[in-house]
Amino acid sequence: MSPSQLLQKALEARRRAYAPYSHYKVGACLLCEDGELFLGCNIENAAFGPSVCAERTAIFKAVSEGKRKFGAIAIVGGPEDRPEQELEAAYPCGVCRQVMAEFCSPDFRIFCGRPDALQCYTLSELLPKSFGL
Ligand code: THU
Repeated sequence: MSPSQLLQKALEARRRAYAPYSHYKVGACLLCEDGELFLGCNIENAAFGPSVCAERTAIFKAVSEGKRKFGAIAIVGGPEDRPEQELEAAYPCGVCRQVMAEFCSPDFRIFCGRPDALQCYTLSELLPKSFGL
C-alpha cells in the first residue's frame, strides 16, 4: 500500500466523520505491520469531552482486534464544506501523538496532506522526547 493509497483510504474514512459541532471532519487509515488496514473518523459528542479523534478511533479499533504492530498512519482533515481536492494538511493532535507513542516505534510513519501532495513524518519528529514509563 503506497502512502498516497493510504491517504485515499483516509479520505474515504473522513466521509463517515460525525462532526456536527466543529464541522471539521478527519479521517485516518492505520497500516498494521501485517498489511491489514483500520480506518477511523472523528466522532463528536454534544458534551464535547467524549469526542474522539480519527487517529484514536483507528488505533483503538486495531488494538481491540488484537493488533499491536503498526507501520504507518495517513491522516486527512479539514472543514466539512471544503472540497476534498482543496484540503490542506492536518496534523495529529498531542493526545493522538501520545497514543501513537504507546504502540508505535519512533520510526512509525505519519502521512499528512492529500494523495497528490503528501507529507511524511516520523513519530519521533512529531513527538520528540515523548513520555513513557
Ligand atoms: N480531530 C481529529 O480527529 N484528529 C486530530 O488530530 C485533531 C482533531 C478532530 C477532533 C474534533 O472532532 C475536530 O477534529 C475538531 O477539533
